[in-house]
Amino acid sequence: MLKNFWYACEFSAAVTDRPKQVKILHQKFVLYRQQGQVVAFKDQCPHRGAALSLGRVENGCIHCPYHGWSFQADGQCTLIPANGPEVPVPPRARLETFPVQEKYGYIWLFYGDLPAGDRPPLPTFPAYLSTLHPVRHEGLEHANYARLMQANIDFAHVIAIHRKSFGQRIPLDKAIRYPVEADDWSAVASVTYSSLGSSKSILNTVLGGRPDLTTRLSFYLPNVTLAEISIGKGNDKDIRFGILVAFVPIDDHTTCAKRTLYRNIAPLPILDRWVRKLDYQLAYEDTEVVETIPSQVMPRISEEQHVAADALDLTFRKLRQKYYAQGWGLQPSTQPLESSEYPALVGSG
Ligand code: FES
Ligand SMILES: [Fe+2]
Repeated sequence: MLKNFWYACEFSAAVTDRPKQVKILHQKFVLYRQQGQVVAFKDQCPHRGAALSLGRVENGCIHCPYHGWSFQADGQCTLIPANGPEVPVPPRARLETFPVQEKYGYIWLFYGDLPAGDRPPLPTFPAYLSTLHPVRHEGLEHANYARLMQANIDFAHVIAIHRKSFGQRIPLDKAIRYPVEADDWSAVASVTYSSLGSSKSILNTVLGGRPDLTTRLSFYLPNVTLAEISIGKGNDKDIRFGILVAFVPIDDHTTCAKRTLYRNIAPLPILDRWVRKLDYQLAYEDTEVVETIPSQVMPRISEEQHVAADALDLTFRKLRQKYYAQGWGLQPSTQPLESSEYPALVGSG
């Protein structure tokens, strides 16, 4: 895991004016809204360490569930009930706060020690995504978040992992090769398969001929991937899907994948349940295999073998290595952070 990045850590809709615990980076944070703005603290009271997420928010302060100390949005304790109002609150009675931003339906938490002006930017996703119909859901995965991200930026895995669901339709008549466009925090690549399917289908009539399938895969450090799938002739009739995933690293072996599924066809909310179910099945096809990788924490590039189709994954690993080399790596977690209360699959709008 890397420090000094903005982590997409929760859906915006899941953070309200009631405290919510968020597990990430082998730690527990508490998030809530005060006058609409999201506040993030370490979920540990400085008195005896109780989880503030079990407390309540009132008059702009979060109240610890144990002895009722209350803390304002900058983390300073303003009241210790056992001392009464006469005794001044010691300045040390304060909570560690964390910068947060809200964008693209997610809360982004900055974890690190860089001053505000030196922090990496939030990603910029393609603008058209915001015009598509979104569906969100999340699931707990017993695998390392970076290993799960690798599967989502892997053009070649669909022909094997997803063979039964859709991979058998991908033609294998030439090697998978593509250029990668990268910057300091992200990279993108795309592959197009031309003239798929039979010429007689109704869908092909609608699309104006045998469609091309273009898959555009991106990653955004530290924990987001985006898959854009376009079926058609490269015009505004194309059927488009987007799968944006924030892989929230709970610990080195446990990840909560917070997924937003976009589509421009049949944007009826009544179909959302079906879309979630289909996506869950596809995600499970990945997870089932990724969980079997013995070294869940990424080995050195030279310790594994690679082919041309792995170019985007290699870019991902090299960029991560660059930040580890400059001292942004966090210690691997040896003990799991207990995570049983995360549901296996929860829809959230
Ligand atoms: S543990 Fe929080 S007030 Fe005592
Ligand atoms: Fe996959």
